[in-house]
Amino acid sequence: MGTTTFELFSKEYKAIIETEIIEYVKKLQAPAVVKEAMAYSLEAGGKRIRPLLVFAVLEAFGENLRRGIAAASAIEMIHTYSLIHDDLPAMDDDDLRRGKPTNHKVFGEAVAVLAGDALLTYSFQLISGMSEPGVTAEMKLALVDEIAKSAGVEGMVGGQVADMEGEGKQLTIQELEYIHEHKTGKLLTASVISGAILSGANEEQLQHLRNFSYHLGLAFQIRDDILDIEGSVELIGKPVGSDEGNHKSTYPSLLTLQGAKDKLEHHIGLAHASLSKTALETGLLNELTDLIANRDH
Ligand code: IPE
Ligand code: IPE
Ligand code: MG
Ligand code: MG
Ligand code: MG
Repeated sequence: MGTTTFELFSKEYKAIIETEIIEYVKKLQAPAVVKEAMAYSLEAGGKRIRPLLVFAVLEAFGENLRRGIAAASAIEMIHTYSLIHDDLPAMDDDDLRRGKPTNHKVFGEAVAVLAGDALLTYSFQLISGMSEPGVTAEMKLALVDEIAKSAGVEGMVGGQVADMEGEGKQLTIQELEYIHEHKTGKLLTASVISGAILSGANEEQLQHLRNFSYHLGLAFQIRDDILDIEGSVELIGKPVGSDEGNHKSTYPSLLTLQGAKDKLEHHIGLAHASLSKTALETGLLNELTDLIANRDH
């Protein structure tokens, strides 16, 4: 079987982001322990879906993909910080992440909190310092605005708070959708929109891409919740049964496992439909979407 364009793209750009993201950390003048803790979680692996989304959108617009390296690294740093904090005893209290002991298990809770803080703030330094050809000051400001809103209290942080508050309660589907859209969907949206900002997308294209991201985000977290039940620790690199242990409402718990799978298909279909309205070269984005729907880790 030959290697597909998508496989070549994801292998190449995963490797690029994994090299560049560590270079950014190495450059820092800071106490060794916090740099080690930052690098530990960044190097632990992960699917790099968010960076790949930034690059796939640039590809859809026919732009130079290297333009996205700083923004893709910044978003992966924010995502990694969110995982470090999500695993803390005060939150999901998990011991395994990306196939390795969680950050606080290795470095202690105080350093894990600070490594997360460091990743979050450094991500904005990377954006403000972008110097790639063709990247304007307006683009950088738009990136900061989009990423800050998506990661912050109106985005991922708000979703995480609602997720915590929902523990032990029977939520409605609307409440659960708010949680999914915010804790997971917003950062995926920021990835897509960052690629679009760097490509000079127009309002109509941005709107179709936001619709795409909305459905992709819901699908992504539904798949995560299904894997928390059906997945294997070896493949997902994090504990299974964490949601049940923490008394979380999830799509499978509200709709049954089959109901959650149907909902996943529904959102994947609408994600593809939104992409087809953009009139862009969306081959890679379509493949990433299917990968998210069918992923086993
Ligand atoms: C896990 O995200 C957390 C969620 C938002 C569901 P990923 O499944 O993208 O985790 P990594 O980056 O591959 O480890
Ligand atoms: C994750 O939701 C969200 C964020 C880290 C923002 P989960 O708590 O379900 O993620 P996992 O399953 O621990 O990766
Ligand atoms: Mg959580
Ligand atoms: Mg968790
Ligand atoms: Mg989960």
